Amino acid sequence: MRAVILRRHGGPEVLEEVELPMPVPGPGQVRIRVAACALNHLDLWVRKGLPGLRRPYPFILGSDVAGTIDALGAGMSGVAEGDEVLINPGLSCGRCRACLSGHDNLCRDYGILGEHSDGGYAEFLVVPAANLLPAPQRLTPVERATFPVTFLTAWQMLVHKVALRPGETVLIHAAGSGVGVAALQIAKVLGAEVIATASSEAKLARARELGADHTLLSGEGLLEGIRRITGKQGVDVVVEHTGAATWSTSILACARGGRIVTCGATSGYEAITDLRHVFYRQIAIFGSTMGSKGDLFPLLDHIAAGRLRPVIDCVLPLAAARQAHERLENRAQFGKIVLTLSLT
Ligand SMILES: NC(=O)c1ccc[n+]([C@@H]2O[C@H](COP(=O)([O-])OP(=O)(O)OC[C@H]3O[C@@H](n4cnc5c(N)ncnc54)[C@H](OP(=O)(O)O)[C@@H]3O)[C@@H](O)[C@H]2O)c1
Ligand SMILES: [Zn+2]
Repeated sequence: MRAVILRRHGGPEVLEEVELPMPVPGPGQVRIRVAACALNHLDLWVRKGLPGLRRPYPFILGSDVAGTIDALGAGMSGVAEGDEVLINPGLSCGRCRACLSGHDNLCRDYGILGEHSDGGYAEFLVVPAANLLPAPQRLTPVERATFPVTFLTAWQMLVHKVALRPGETVLIHAAGSGVGVAALQIAKVLGAEVIATASSEAKLARARELGADHTLLSGEGLLEGIRRITGKQGVDVVVEHTGAATWSTSILACARGGRIVTCGATSGYEAITDLRHVFYRQIAIFGSTMGSKGDLFPLLDHIAAGRLRPVIDCVLPLAAARQAHERLENRAQFGKIVLTLSLT
């Protein structure tokens, strides 16, 4: 099969297109013929190399996969070859207390497809059957691939961690990022008032099309803009994933009793926290990673009803994976960059 692999970590040039043997599904697994695989910032982190992450090489990136079932491992029933599926990217033991309590993303063995096991930058991929989801029929395979990682992440952040309520104000950093696009739409579904940021006017215009009530350029002047919009009150909730560059502003942007939920540190993880503001304003800070397997079901309902929409930046063939990485790394995208494989 054709695949784009890593044999070492580094810049986009380490991505190599090669022929590999077909993966064989074991018991409880299925082989997927990949139709589309969307990029995530995670792909850049893994490509560059994360401390403590040791992978067998060649390694295949790609966490957000849509495709069809191509072969079944031993003992599989209830699914059939040719079924169109979406893949849940969360991998866990399936047996421990966390897994069986619906918190599989707290499992000690938790991992993500394309980070802890081979992902979807390939024609075929083997996954546990527990990770199969029915494909939302109103969407094309490319559109389907834009959802899992970032929508699952944003859903847990807004629904479970900060419990966003109708009428609350929420600040969403980098609205054109995968997490931003998902959080913006979910916040609107939950009835909140959204202040979205981005690094360019063009991205802000796209954010308004997606439903942002207010938009502000990131960087200098952001805090002033938030104070103006909120009548000096600050926001109820901040969706943080940009990290060191925005963290101090996120704290100062909070209203008294506000909540910050963070899932990432794109600009750096060593951020300055002025504790005086945290305790005096009584700010709650939540950490969040991915979501439970079950959380993709309400998301699929919203997708089926058209309340949550795919936001596609561009579609490229698998062979253009390097250009796709460069585009994401250069912050040129709004929404998802999707690689296509066996589209027919
Ligand atoms: N913990 C989890 O479960 C989880 C899940 C998903 C993502 N994440 C993390 O959340 C972050 C966002 O992921 P994503 O896939 O949504 O990212 P993405 O689509 O690549 O978007 C990242 C955006 O962040 C903005 N940005 C701000 N400061 C930046 C900087 N110094 N360098 C680069 N970009 C900067 C840029 O938008 P502007 O040009 O508008 O500034 C950029 O487009 C990543 O750090 C990712 O690892 C975590
Ligand atoms: Zn477990």
